[in-house]
This record gives sequence, structure tokens and C-alpha cells, in this order.
Amino acid sequence: MKTRREFLTVLTPIALGSWSFASESKSSEGIEPLSALGLETLFLTWAQDPLRTMRIQWICRSLQKPMSIDFYYQKKNEMSWLKAQTVSHPFGSIEYWVNRVDLSNLNPGTEYRFKVANQPEIYQFKTAPEQLTESLSFVEGGDVGTDPLTVVPLHQMAAACEPLFGMVVGDLSYSNGTDVQTELRYFKLWNAQMRGSGNRLIPMIVGIGNHEVKGGFQKTRAEAPFFYALFEGLFKGSGAYGVLDFGSYLSMVLLDSRHTCEVEHQTEWLRATLAKREGFTHRFVAYHVPAYPSVRKFDDPISVAIRKHWVPVLESAKIKVVFEHHDHAFKRTKKLLGGEESAVGVTYVGDGAWGRPPRETRAPEERDGLLKRASSLNVWKVTLNGSRADFMAANEKGEELDHFVIY
Ligand SMILES: [Fe+2]
Ligand SMILES: [Fe+2]
Repeated sequence: MKTRREFLTVLTPIALGSWSFASESKSSEGIEPLSALGLETLFLTWAQDPLRTMRIQWICRSLQKPMSIDFYYQKKNEMSWLKAQTVSHPFGSIEYWVNRVDLSNLNPGTEYRFKVANQPEIYQFKTAPEQLTESLSFVEGGDVGTDPLTVVPLHQMAAACEPLFGMVVGDLSYSNGTDVQTELRYFKLWNAQMRGSGNRLIPMIVGIGNHEVKGGFQKTRAEAPFFYALFEGLFKGSGAYGVLDFGSYLSMVLLDSRHTCEVEHQTEWLRATLAKREGFTHRFVAYHVPAYPSVRKFDDPISVAIRKHWVPVLESAKIKVVFEHHDHAFKRTKKLLGGEESAVGVTYVGDGAWGRPPRETRAPEERDGLLKRASSLNVWKVTLNGSRADFMAANEKGEELDHFVIY
């Protein structure tokens, strides 16, 4: 187990080093045009098997559909390059396009290099391991936004953990599905900051939140154009719910908290999806609006619907930890079963403030289900070691807010 001191040793120098960069970015915010190819928005994500595939995407501006671009990749330390080509589709805003490369038949747990034709930069990525034979970390949070003063230090802290991936479950850019410049800034920040050693790009796994959607709640897929243009691969049903399996050691289940799909519509899918993965070493569930909010009203209709429809499924499937967001604070609940503390209950962590200003949390007497709470920026780091999972939350200074372990 890492001590608080070790955690800070890793994080503090990088977090402190971020402030000069942050002020430079702030001054150019909103006026910096996209380059000809738009490669400063390039990022990785997974639509399929994270052991053997990688999806590489970036956004460009063009009056017409862009020509296909040659793309090269190789296993790290191999001499010859393999060739792939981009395919383009509309981004959801006039004159903007998504360039996409889907790589498949990759080897698990392997480092690759890649580059775009005639461009100098060589990037790296890493596929997920076949089995959990070594420790594996990922970072998790939500409610990011595009203010470099808060986002840059949190990204740098998160990247310094060398996570296999970063997961952002709702309220990515705050573009509301309409403001393309805000959307571009979000991806530029991820591209610039979320890199591991050796210029490894850290893949982004996402869930949907209200700020991905024109109108926020009870809308259609068409009203979240940027989100679905980039991430539809994982969400093939009627809304943004899907599952990503890492071998049989980790399963990430993502749900749509009434943004483009009703809560109750996903209940049976959730039950079947969790049942099918009963033998997995780790199963986590994530969605945007919290069942157990640390800031907002407990009787918010979406929170009520989640407690009614999903929580009994999570409890009977013996899910141990659920990721919640939307409230812009830090929290960890007690282990809850039917709303009461229980040794076999579910822990809900959150509450989404990976850049957005934190809000005041409710007083203890108002929310006795909360074990910990703070009005604080935060990102969660999860480290899997066999059947053990360490959950650590830290703020933008790298100060540890929480650490607990499940088996
Ligand atoms: Fe938010
Ligand atoms: Fe939200």
C-alpha cells in the first residue's frame, strides 16, 4: 500500500510545475485556431476489446469531407511500420469532422508507436494486459470543463500515476452539445496533459452527462451530437449505456442517467450485464447523476429513479464500488444496502470535480449515508492488485483526500 507520503512524493513536483503553463493557456483561450490537421485534439479511446484494439481520433476543420490520411504504427522496438488509413465522419457542427483510425488484432499488454504521415510527432499507446498478473491503475472522475487553472494540475496529477486509462463520466467540456470551440479546448487539454512516460497517450473512456446534451435531460442521441460522433462505438443501444470488458479481470459498466435514455429502460440490461460477468475479478458501475448526492437534493427525481431501479440490481449483484458525479464535490458513502449501513453494502464514490469549481457539501445531519465529504476538486486513482483494489482520491495539489481498500 502506498503511504500518504509516497503518494505526495509522486504528485507534488508535477502539480506545482503546472502553474506557468496554466497561465499561458488561459491567455490564449478562445482565440487559438485549430491547426490545419487538428492533431492537437488527438486522443485514444476504446470502442471494443481494450486488449486487442485501439481507436485513435481527432477533430479537424474542413469545408468538405477530408481526404483519407495515411497513418503508421508499429510495436515498440520493431523496425517496420504498418500502414492504416483514417476514415472521416461529421463531428456534429458544420465544417468540423472526426478523423478516426481503428486498429485491431493488436497484442495484449503491448506498447505501440504511431504517427500520422508527414508529421514529426511519434506517439505511443499501450494495450490492456491479458491478465491481471501485475498491478494496474486507472484514474476516474467527472465534471472537467476547460479552465486550465484547475484542469491542468488535475490532469498532470492523474497522468503522473501512469494509469492505463482515464475515465470521465459526464460533463466533459460543458459544450452542451452546441459550442464546438469549448469541445475542442477539452480535447486539446487532454491531448497536452494526459500523457504517460515515453509520450504514451492515456486513453479516455467516457460516460454521458447533462452537459453533453442540448437541454441536458430526457433528450435523444441527436441532441448530444459531439458525444455520439466520438463515442458511439461503446453505446450501440438507445442511449449511452454500455460495457467495456478487460479480459475477465475488469468490467466497466456505464449508464445513462436520463440524458438520452430513461433510467428504468436500462434496468434489465444492467441486471443481465452484471450477471454475465459474475465471475470477473472486478466489476465497477459508473453514471453521472448520483443516487446518493453530496450536494444536491436527495429527492431529485433522477436520484430517486436510480435508487428505485438500479440500486437494488447493484446490491443483488454484489457490486462493491460505484462511481457517481454531477455534484462537483468529493464524497464516499458508507457501505449502503437499502439505504442503511451494512457490511455487505455498496460504496458510492464521487462526486465529480475534475476541474469544475467545487460546491459546498451537505451537513452530516442531512446526509448520514456519507462517510466522507469535502468541497474539493478531486480525481480518483484505482489500483488493482489481484482481487484487491485500492481507491485513492487526491485534490489538485496532490493531497490525499481518501484511501480505502476492497477485496
Ligand atoms: Fe457538472
Ligand atoms: Fe452534471
